[in-house]
Amino acid sequence: MTRIWAHRGASRAAPENTVPAFTAAAALGADGVELDVQRTRDGRLVVCHDEQIDRTSTGHGWIRDMSLAELHRHDFSCGRADFAGTRIPTLDDVLTALAGTGLSANIELKNSVVSYPGMEAEVVETVERLGWGGRVIYSSFNHASMRLMARMGERVGLLYDEVLRRPTRYALDLGAAALHPSGRVMAIAPHTVRKAHRKGIEVNVWTLDRPEQVRAALALDVDAIITNTPDAALGVRDAA
Ligand code: G3P
Ligand code: CA
Repeated sequence: MTRIWAHRGASRAAPENTVPAFTAAAALGADGVELDVQRTRDGRLVVCHDEQIDRTSTGHGWIRDMSLAELHRHDFSCGRADFAGTRIPTLDDVLTALAGTGLSANIELKNSVVSYPGMEAEVVETVERLGWGGRVIYSSFNHASMRLMARMGERVGLLYDEVLRRPTRYALDLGAAALHPSGRVMAIAPHTVRKAHRKGIEVNVWTLDRPEQVRAALALDVDAIITNTPDAALGVRDAA
């Protein structure tokens, strides 16, 4: 069955990439969550989509230039009064909050705009320490980083938003377990799913919020749909 993964948590129900968004995803019955990881100046892994905190918090500046203590001075409620005071979570915080849920996690390394040398091993260390090994797939637009993680024995998915030539062959060559095309690419190249499945490669598509997009992806038998609205996607899937 196609799994439903909450993009940045249930990011309509609560501020994206915060503990309330992830616990909301669990409460709504999502199969998993997608989250984004950056690294602070003092080497802490934090969950935030943007490299800078301006859009989602009351602060300004680059995460790589700030310590975790500095980040904790800011409110990450994305301007939502009902979530005022929400802090940026560490990767530890998120995995700990979801520990008893049985959800899986798609951990995206945000290392294609900013370079975070050594981040791959640090993320794996956190996941293993918290007992999440086997419940995660890593992803990134930085495919060299994913090749490195695949060589470390980790399950990785390749994010992309341009049509690739022979994507299954590409994934196999990199040692990836999955392709993570955008919905736009999937609509252009729907045959990708059948070909990938023949070779044992999963296909997880992002970010599908409209019911007709969800229905189209279900018809293609994708392995996971990454969505901001997991409740709506679950409704479409479970009615089918
Ligand atoms: O993992 C899919 C999706 O999250 C990739 O794009 O920009 O939302 O991180 P973005
Ligand atoms: Ca992401």
